[in-house]
Amino acid sequence: MPRNIVLVGFMGAGKSICGRLLARRLGRCFVETDDMIVAREGCSIPEIFTRHGEPRFRELEAEAVAALALKSDDVIATGGGLPCRDGRMEALRALGTVVWLRGGLVALLERARRQGARPMIANRTDAEIQALYDAREPYYRQAHLTIETDGRTVDQVVSELVSTLRTDHARV
Ligand code: S3P
Repeated sequence: MPRNIVLVGFMGAGKSICGRLLARRLGRCFVETDDMIVAREGCSIPEIFTRHGEPRFRELEAEAVAALALKSDDVIATGGGLPCRDGRMEALRALGTVVWLRGGLVALLERARRQGARPMIANRTDAEIQALYDAREPYYRQAHLTIETDGRTVDQVVSELVSTLRTDHARV
């Protein structure tokens, strides 16, 4: 049974930064599905969206998920839309412990917009983004664990995650 820790959540949840710190604390390798896709395609995520469209990006995500079967002990950060396909959360849960980094949409968007390079929120109204979030939440909910991120530092989120994994689940 693989023992990966898989982080899911909406854009701006802090999957990358928390994942990197978590991996360092646990002495594990860190991998991001977005990085796998960028390395494979040799161009950035916004370029993939512009040149080939979202459907192509979603195909690349499916390939990345298949490649994750080779991982057994890593911390894996997923793109915000990756879990939101039928059967996808089951596939992620089979890789190890899935953790939803949850946050309120206002805080998530504030972070995501500040960082930029997010084609899924560029040129979308707040109402459209709210609808996207609402459509995705049922998928994120299928995670084994949920960690709240609102009003908390990266260090606090990761510390809670480590202690939850150790005490409640004995997964690390
Ligand atoms: C996406 C989220 C992004 C990236 C791509 C699409 C989405 O990752 O995979 O821009 O559909 O929510 P982050 O969640 O790391 O921003």
